[in-house]
Amino acid sequence: MTRRAVVRGIGHYLPERIVPNSEFEKTLETSDEWIRSRSGIERRHFAAEGQTTSDMAARAARAALEDAGLAVDQIDAIVVATSTADLTFPSAATMVQAELGMTQGFAFDVQAVCAGFVFALANANALILSGQADRVVVIGAETFSRLMDWSDRGTCVLFGDGAGALVLEAGDGVGSTEDRGILACDLNSDGRHRDILYVDGGVSTHSTGHLRMQGKEVFRHAVEKLAATAHTALEKIGLSGADVDWIVPHQANLRIIKGTAQRMGVPMERVVVTVQDHGNTSAASIPLALSVGKARGQIKTNDLVVVEAIGGGLAWGSVVLRW
Ligand code: UT7
Repeated sequence: MTRRAVVRGIGHYLPERIVPNSEFEKTLETSDEWIRSRSGIERRHFAAEGQTTSDMAARAARAALEDAGLAVDQIDAIVVATSTADLTFPSAATMVQAELGMTQGFAFDVQAVCAGFVFALANANALILSGQADRVVVIGAETFSRLMDWSDRGTCVLFGDGAGALVLEAGDGVGSTEDRGILACDLNSDGRHRDILYVDGGVSTHSTGHLRMQGKEVFRHAVEKLAATAHTALEKIGLSGADVDWIVPHQANLRIIKGTAQRMGVPMERVVVTVQDHGNTSAASIPLALSVGKARGQIKTNDLVVVEAIGGGLAWGSVVLRW
C-alpha cells in the first residue's frame, strides 16, 4: 500500500462585483483591446469594501466541504495560500478556522505569492504522507485589488480577487501512476529576481505598499520556468506531456499559458483557461480554475492533471495529480 493525498472535494467563491476592461478606459490611457490582446483578460471580480481574504476563503472552504460531503469536525488542518491576509497576524487560516467553527486541528498560511497554491498543495501532501493529518483543506485566497496602484496601467488592469479550496484526504494506492492523488511535486525559488515583481511596502519597511512589476521580465521567466517545472515533476514519475489530460496553469496571461502548453507539447484543448473571467488572482487562480474546470465538465475522476505557477520571489513549481 502507498499512502496518497487524494482530492475529495473542491469549491470556490468570487466576489459579486465584476469589472469589465472598459471600466479602466475611463481613468487610464488604456483600452479593452490592449488588455485583451496582451493578457487575454476581459473582466475580473473585485471584493466589496470591507470584504476580506478570510471571508472569501471561508466561503470557498464551505463549498469544498459540501462537495466532499464532509463536516468541519472531520478536518485535521487548514492551509491558506495568500499574500493578502486580513491582518499582519494572526494567519488568514486561523480566521477561516474560527469562521468555519472548527475547534480541533491546526491552521497556517503559506506565502509564495502567485505560486502559493502549488506550495500549499505540496505542504498539505507532505502533512498527509507523514501521517500528521488525514484530511486537509487547502485554500488559495487573495484580495490583490488592495495592492494596486490605480495610476499604473501596466499592473492594475491585470489582477482580480477570489478564492478556491480543495479538500485532500489520505487514501491508499498501489504506488503506480494509476493511483488517484498527488503523484509528484516540484518546488523552486530564486530570490535574486525579487526586484522584478514585489510590493513596495510591508511591516518592517513602511505602509502596505503597491504591487510593482517588470512585466516583460516576468513574462520571459514564466514561459521558460513553467514548462521546465512541469517537465521535472512529470519526469520524476516517468511521465511526459503526452500523458497529461489537463494542464491547470496559474492564470496570469493567456500568452504565457499558450507558450507553456506549446513547450510541453500539450494542445490548448487540454488546458483549463479562466483568465478571461478572473484576471490574475495570484494564489487563488489555480483552485479557482480547478473548481471551474470541474464544474464545466472538463476535469473528471482519474484524469491526470498538472498544476503549475510562478510569481514573486521568484517562486515557481508544479504538482502532478490524478483527480
Ligand atoms: O502572476 C505573477 C506572474 N505575472 C505575470 O506572469 C505577468 C507577466 N507579464 C505579462 O503578462 C505582460 O508582460 C504584460 C501583460 C504585463 C505586458 O505585456 P507586454 O506585451 O510585455 O507589454 P509591455 O510591458 O512590453 O508594454 C508594451 C507597451 C508599452 O508601451 P511602449 O513603451 O512600447 O510605448 C507600455 O507602456 O504597452 C504599454 N502598456 C499599456 N498600454 C495600454 C502597458 N500597460 C498598458 C495598458 N494599456 N494597460
